[in-house]
Formats: sequence, C-alpha cells, structure tokens
Amino acid sequence: MTQDELKALVGRAAIDYVVPGTVVGVGTGSTVNCFIDELARIKDRIAGAVSSSVKSTERLQALGIPVLDANEVERLPVYIDGADEIDHGGYMIKGGGAALTREKIVADIAERFICIADESKLVQTLGRFPLPVEVIPMARAQVARRLAALGGEPVWREGVVTDNGNVILDVRGLSITDPAALEAEINQWPGVVTCGIFARNKASVCLLGTAQGVRTLT
Ligand code: 5RP
Repeated sequence: MTQDELKALVGRAAIDYVVPGTVVGVGTGSTVNCFIDELARIKDRIAGAVSSSVKSTERLQALGIPVLDANEVERLPVYIDGADEIDHGGYMIKGGGAALTREKIVADIAERFICIADESKLVQTLGRFPLPVEVIPMARAQVARRLAALGGEPVWREGVVTDNGNVILDVRGLSITDPAALEAEINQWPGVVTCGIFARNKASVCLLGTAQGVRTLT
C-alpha cells in the first residue's frame, strides 16, 4: 500500500471514534484531509466541527460541515489529528504543517486525542523529525540561541507565517527522551507560543496505518 492509501485507511477508521450528535475536534494535514472527506459522508449525524487551522476550516466548510469557534464549545469528546512522529507512549511531535498552537488548543478542549498516522510516523524516541517551535517574531533570534544552548540546531522556516501571525523555528538534533520536561522547559521561554511536543496533550489512542491494516495503539 502507498503512504496515501495508508492515510486514507486511518482517515476512514477514525470515523468509528466520532460520537454522534456532538461537535468533533479536527486537526490539520494530509492525513486529516482524508478524515475530513470521510466526515463529510456523515455530516448529518454530527453537530459540527472545531478546526485547528484556516486550511482545515476551508475544507470542512467546502464540504458543508459547520465550523464552530473554539470559544463556543466547552468540551469535545474527541479530537482527531495526525502527527509528524509518535512514540509508543502516545507522545508526539506535531507542527510540520505549522498549525501546532491551534492544534494544542483544540486538543486541550477534547477528552480524547485520536491520532491518525501511517506507520512511518512511529518511532522509539522523538526527535528525528525537526521539532517545530512557534515563536513571536521579535523573539526569533533569542529563542534560537536558547534552543542552540540545549544542543539543537534551529532553522527559521522562512516564508512561513502561522495562522496566528508568528514564525516557526525547526530544531534538528534533539533526542527527546523526556518529552514532558522538554515541552515544559521550552514553553516557558518568553516569546515562545508553543513547541510541537505534545506530552501534556498526548494521544489517547493511535490508529496506525500498516500494510496489514489498522493497528490500534492505546
Ligand atoms: C500540522 C501537523 C500535522 O498533523 C502533521 O504535520 C502530520 O501531517 P500529515 O498528516 O500531512 O503527515 O501537526 O501542523
């Protein structure tokens, strides 16, 4: 199976986790796009979606799925999103699509994070994928110096402005053995909006697309 077929497989499988009659939290990325296309088939059975990016909002609306503001919703039973890396504990690196901050906000409203990914995303230790960090523009150089002091090699993702008007630093060379500690450390620096480690908001379930079918990690 191709990577696109594996993404389509888990996008379909995630429909089983949608709670009828409720609002669904929807992430961002090519795997989530497969999920959104499947969600459109059952749009009459849900109350709408809260979206984590302008791109996902546009896709949802184009398919006739109402998108609610996150502030209108107190609780979401599920948030469904992809990942750039996920380990066996459900800890993730996200933000390859620069949507990490809104993804974390929507994940935080949700009771369960259902991660959908093809098997190439499963790793033993996070850090092979460069860690995205969303930064307020005037803090870019200072945050880059702090990341370098941690042993990382930060690179400014030039030309990219997030939905929140900020910039992204991608950090290579980190071996993330304690995701919760590193997330807490980076997130407290002035100018950091959030880093792409999802430890506080880790996945409750991961639906992994494999050549043998969907593997469920809990
Ligand atoms: C966007 C993300 C995505 O979930 C992540 O990049 C995975 O994307 P894809 O499904 O296209 O591989 O975190 O900010």
